[in-house]
Amino acid sequence: MNKINFIKCPNATIASAKTAEIILATVRNNPQAVLGLATGSTPIETYKMLVRDANQKRISFSQCTTFNLDEYVGLKKADAAQSYRAFMNNQLFGPAHFNLDQTHFPIQWDQPVVANTDYTTYDAHIQAAGGIDVQLLGLGENGHIGFNEPGSSLTSLTRQVHLDAQTIKNNARFFKAINDVPTTAVSMGLQSILQARKIVLLALTPNKLSAINHLRTAQTFNRQWPCTALINHPDTTVIWVE
Ligand code: F6R
Repeated sequence: MNKINFIKCPNATIASAKTAEIILATVRNNPQAVLGLATGSTPIETYKMLVRDANQKRISFSQCTTFNLDEYVGLKKADAAQSYRAFMNNQLFGPAHFNLDQTHFPIQWDQPVVANTDYTTYDAHIQAAGGIDVQLLGLGENGHIGFNEPGSSLTSLTRQVHLDAQTIKNNARFFKAINDVPTTAVSMGLQSILQARKIVLLALTPNKLSAINHLRTAQTFNRQWPCTALINHPDTTVIWVE
């Protein structure tokens, strides 16, 4: 059975406001909340709303702990600004006054991948912090969540992943040339994501509609559309714009 709560919104601003409100309510309820965070174009407006509230002193994120979903591997130094660490520091952590010592990524952007590294220490770290209270997700055109590309297993934990050709093409907009887009990343797995107590997935653009349709109609997990892993989660909200 598909247990997801779907909220269709007339535009991206309303969708972002609803998403921001879920995060704000979590932090109001527990100022020490553990937040699972995403990068990409989708959460930018939501993050702006969180920044605004923090600067108006309506909320404080200073005691929150954060775990980002993923980070690129093998970025050139010249592309440091495209690291997900840089994105988060600029879009949210700096302007909304998070404590940077409490913000975590599965790998540092300039850290080389060492063969056979066990990245599930990230999952252990999340659990040791009490588990994620609310996990924010974007959605890949191909249905990926985090960088769990089609074919990912429902039991996957944090690991090194290879980016799909479609993902590389979509993310090329941030780089000078498509060849500069990293082909690998370290990402939380589907199981890592499903351990969050609450999940909110945000999808704002028409290229996500096919994935949304698969998510709306799924009755079982379909490996070809990794987002369908969410259908059995007890508290997932999908906020989308048609
Ligand atoms: C980013 C992430 C990805 C993105 C997805 C959508 O941390 O994990 O799953 O959420 O690729 O990206 P945008 O929002 O740029 O369309």
